Amino acid sequence: MMSWLLGICTLWMLMVVVLAQKNFNVVPVQNFNQRTGLKTDCLGNYMRLTVDKSLSVGSLVEFDAINGSQIVPITPNLASQCGFSIDSDPWGNYRVFASLLNCFAGNEDDHLFDIDVRVRVQGVKAAQDVLLVEKTCTHDQWAPREILCDRNYMEVSVNRLPGEITSMRRRPKQAQDQVIFDNQWTDTVSEAITSKYNIWRMVFFTPTQKAMVLEDALKTGYGVTTTKSRLVLRSGYDMPETYVENVNGVPMKIIRVTTYFKRQWSVTMLDTVAACPTGGLTFTDEMITWYFPRFNPLMSSSKTSILGMYMGIDGKRVSSEQMAVRGYVLTIEDDKIAMKIPMGGPDGYYKSHAVNNQYHIRYSIEAMLELLWSEGGLDSTRYTVLFPIKTPLMPRPPQFVDLTDIDQRIFDVLLGPFLYDVELVNITFSTGVLTVAEANVRGFNIQEQRFQNGSKAFRLKVPFSDPFVVKTQTDLLAMVYSLPLVYGFMILPEYTPFSYITSVDVRLQDIVLPTVGGTCDEGNFYVKISYGNIGKNFNIMLGTRDLTPARSAEYGMKENATHISLVVPFLALDVAFELMYPSSLRARLDVLLWEPVNKWSLSDFSLACNFPMTMTECFSNGSMSALAVKVESVPQLVPRQLTLRDPSCRPKFSNDRFAYFSFDANSCGTTRTFYDGVLMYQNEITLGNGLPVYQQGRKGVPSSPPDPEYRVTMSCFYTLNDTRTVAFFTKPRESEPLPETGFGELQVVLRLSRDGSYNNFYVEEDYPVVQYLRSPLFFEVVLLQSTDPQIELVLENCWATLKEGRNSTPRWDLIVDG
Ligand SMILES: *[C@@H]1O[C@H](CO)[C@@H](O)[C@H](O)[C@H]1NC(C)=O
Ligand SMILES: *[C@@H]1O[C@H](CO)[C@@H](O)[C@H](O)[C@H]1NC(C)=O
Ligand SMILES: *[C@@H]1O[C@H](CO)[C@@H](O)[C@H](O)[C@H]1NC(C)=O
Ligand SMILES: *[C@@H]1O[C@H](CO)[C@@H](O)[C@H](O)[C@H]1NC(C)=O
Ligand SMILES: *[C@@H]1O[C@H](CO)[C@@H](O)[C@H](O)[C@H]1NC(C)=O
Ligand SMILES: *[C@@H]1O[C@H](CO)[C@@H](O)[C@H](O)[C@H]1NC(C)=O
Repeated sequence: MMSWLLGICTLWMLMVVVLAQKNFNVVPVQNFNQRTGLKTDCLGNYMRLTVDKSLSVGSLVEFDAINGSQIVPITPNLASQCGFSIDSDPWGNYRVFASLLNCFAGNEDDHLFDIDVRVRVQGVKAAQDVLLVEKTCTHDQWAPREILCDRNYMEVSVNRLPGEITSMRRRPKQAQDQVIFDNQWTDTVSEAITSKYNIWRMVFFTPTQKAMVLEDALKTGYGVTTTKSRLVLRSGYDMPETYVENVNGVPMKIIRVTTYFKRQWSVTMLDTVAACPTGGLTFTDEMITWYFPRFNPLMSSSKTSILGMYMGIDGKRVSSEQMAVRGYVLTIEDDKIAMKIPMGGPDGYYKSHAVNNQYHIRYSIEAMLELLWSEGGLDSTRYTVLFPIKTPLMPRPPQFVDLTDIDQRIFDVLLGPFLYDVELVNITFSTGVLTVAEANVRGFNIQEQRFQNGSKAFRLKVPFSDPFVVKTQTDLLAMVYSLPLVYGFMILPEYTPFSYITSVDVRLQDIVLPTVGGTCDEGNFYVKISYGNIGKNFNIMLGTRDLTPARSAEYGMKENATHISLVVPFLALDVAFELMYPSSLRARLDVLLWEPVNKWSLSDFSLACNFPMTMTECFSNGSMSALAVKVESVPQLVPRQLTLRDPSCRPKFSNDRFAYFSFDANSCGTTRTFYDGVLMYQNEITLGNGLPVYQQGRKGVPSSPPDPEYRVTMSCFYTLNDTRTVAFFTKPRESEPLPETGFGELQVVLRLSRDGSYNNFYVEEDYPVVQYLRSPLFFEVVLLQSTDPQIELVLENCWATLKEGRNSTPRWDLIVDG
């Protein structure tokens, strides 16, 4: 756009009055002060004020501008209109950039600038809670046009001083954004310079034209100032009369205004344009690249030559040496200026963030680009962009490293890396949450490991034996040890919580199964169960039944941390009878330990013993008794249905497992055999007369196969040689021999009668009886107590001896061979 001088401007007038009020509680600060944590720097056309977090101590800091005696809080709107920008990092370090041309600066000949800012720390009630910063900056090297792109505003100032006019003369007409003075007006040019109050109107190009009077522009929020030599225009990025242009792939915000000054008969027209980048960043994991168009809308032609190109950080130029150290690169690549900043350098900072509970980091750095260019070799523009760069949030899922030591049986896990600003607060285990301190008291030894770059990782050790470790038996011999963990983290200083959920498992074939052992005595089984290494996680089955608490008590169960003991009588219901012997019973106790969840059999144990037990009794009065036992090989047997040979002879007593018979030797089909001086009575216990003993099905049809034969033969032997009698055998039952033997006595009495009448007998006191030789002796031999009428007593041989032994000699025969 062309600009002309339409008239001569008359006198200019600018008054700058700086009045620093001292009547409030302030501590003036001129320069860096360790105590207050304030620092000011003059950096070209702006002043930088830094407030250290030690001052803010976590509180908000607010800033006021000072306009004469007035204190004006710097609100966001005021800041962008008046040339301030305020920024802070998460720790409370504040950075304020104040344009030297800000609304409140004291300006002495566009050379000395007094900038007063009041710093207020919220909530701090100490005497220092309000601080006044007074800073004087000098800046002489004003370029004819200076453009400042700050974080929140674009500022352009152009020279409109007569001093410039001399040099202007040679300027090509097409140069823009500059007051062009024709030589003929030189002498009177000062009249053309107008104060702000001579601004007649302003035309904004959006890019369609929009005219405003000064008051409206100010009211809308634009900053319009005149100084001794310059016109300053300032606009926020969001102002309605700004527009976006894509310049060589870089989006730029543009404000373009023509200002008309009117003084009496003359009108001066001044073009101002500012264009500031709002993008152009690309990121890789290692590098941040910021592209800026080589040719931008502020340049009128491609004849523009770049005179200087500087990089800065935090608003301050970085020397080329420093750039080399940091690895910064600033180059021109084709039609772009590229600034390369390695990710993670010390001029910026990393910060942790939690997004949807996922750990992210972001790197922030405040870059600055300063360009100096001239067009057609004459006029020059200084262009400064303060450009805070924040990388996108970069997911950084931490690595979970399992260093578990199986030999030592300790879980050892490492989680990281995290940035310095992450604190581990607590860990949630399977059964509860512990703070780090509590976990360490418990012996978990949580360590924070630091890397050289300041990142850290957290190491945790938990023994397998800890109750927080979940043990799951996956098969008979393998155990899985699991340590489920939820790490609770906090990001400082914002106290943003996030968590990390993980679990570590170890499978070990280290199970020792429980074992069972036992012994017997004459009446009981003694069972001892030793737990394996997984505690009492089993059920006990005795015989065919699980052990109930009631029966545990019955069996005198004793329990301690490692063992269980039981005493089971051999006649207990859980004991199986295997075999009957003449005077004992072979009984077996089966013990099964089984795991209830997976129904695994852990230990299977059987103990069989012979227990003394009288099965048959033979009494000298000729009666016999016999006990029939239900053995496990005849499961269908119903003892109550057993009979002797005579099916009418039923048990005197019976229950589920026993039948007891008592009968006389001459009844119930008992047979008698007499041989070799032995009298043998025999009978059998069978399933009544061959009738099936199983349950009848409906309609009387047998519903199950006949029982295996059950036949117990018992015998009573009475030896007739003397008063001792010996007993009997049972007939073996098929494959299983079940001999039954009973012993009995037939009492025989030998008496000496006084005469042949057999009415008078010698008694004990009469012995020894004296008799004459050859006189007869009358002996009586009686079988006592036998009720069996078929028994006959036959004397075979009788003899006399001198001594008691029956075989002693000499002997005299009394009866020989009957
Ligand atoms: C500064 O104070 C003067 C006098 O009170 C006032 O006219 C002017 O508008 C104020 N400037 C700002 C930027 O508020
Ligand atoms: C810090 O060092 C650790 C270990 O060398 C690495 O894993 C991590 O990525 C580094 N962190 C940063 C922010 O560079
Ligand atoms: C554990 O720490 C996390 C993260 O700081 C927090 O959100 C959570 O409330 C804590 N849990 C308990 C039980 O204290
Ligand atoms: C537990 O009982 C068993 C036998 O019943 C015994 O050998 C063992 O010493 C006992 N252990 C403890 C810790 O009392
Ligand atoms: C025979 O003797 C036994 C044992 O003394 C007795 O139980 C039984 O009743 C007696 N029998 C007879 C018939 O007397
Ligand atoms: C009876 O006694 C005689 C003489 O001692 C002996 O020889 C015989 O074997 C005995 N008979 C029986 C059946 O025991």
